[in-house]
Amino acid sequence: MTPQQLERMRREWDERARQNARHYVATGQEEWTDEEFFRSGERAVSEQILNDMTNICQGADPGKMKVLEIGCGAGRITQALAKVFGEVYAVDISGEMVAQARRALAHLANVHIDQNSGTDLAVLGDIQVDFAFSCIVFQHIPSREVIENYVREVHRLLRPGGLFKFQVQGDDSIETDPEDTWLGVPFSDAQAVEMAERCGFEPRHRHGAGDQYFWLWFFKK
Ligand SMILES: C[S@@+](CC[C@H](N)C(=O)[O-])C[C@H]1O[C@@H](n2cnc3c(N)ncnc32)[C@H](O)[C@@H]1O
Repeated sequence: MTPQQLERMRREWDERARQNARHYVATGQEEWTDEEFFRSGERAVSEQILNDMTNICQGADPGKMKVLEIGCGAGRITQALAKVFGEVYAVDISGEMVAQARRALAHLANVHIDQNSGTDLAVLGDIQVDFAFSCIVFQHIPSREVIENYVREVHRLLRPGGLFKFQVQGDDSIETDPEDTWLGVPFSDAQAVEMAERCGFEPRHRHGAGDQYFWLWFFKK
């Protein structure tokens, strides 16, 4: 991905955030009240996190865990994560999204939200996290190289044995264009497995290959 493409990604997400952040974060509705928006985040956490605590916590007390969220948008899921886990570190490429998420979650002392480069987690230094999560973000990244770099970066920050649970675009019939910052590059099941292996993860569970919401459970070796 060229610096120009990366800059376009940031600029277009900033524009979407200025126009209607909540709609672009969760396209199911044009207008969201605060209550509806954050309730949809609670629902995502109850379906994807609370139902999966054995893989996520592995016996640890969630209240003592540090978690990472990549692509936090306007803080929809971040808020719900903060009610379950000890500390939440969230990053997003868009300064506008970060500003909105910070405003909405200012009352939560255990949430730390930063704008990042769009390709790595350098902004977090070398903190160690116990679990990493990303939902409806990589489906928008038009570069396999950028997604794989995030996987490597999560490997750098995650404790050994820890889980990175995330989604990619699994529908490999879709055509993508590196200039398009809405449609992300798809992964087949074999490509997801190869990426895990190249980055030091065991791709223990996978669900939804071929689908827009292809869930991956990568455990750090
Ligand atoms: C559809 S929104 C989803 C937000 C959040 N995950 C949720 O479900 O509420 C996608 C988010 O990913 C962010 N994003 C897009 N490309 C990114 C990148 N390369 N690095 C970090 N964040 C990115 C966008 O700014 C946007 O906030």
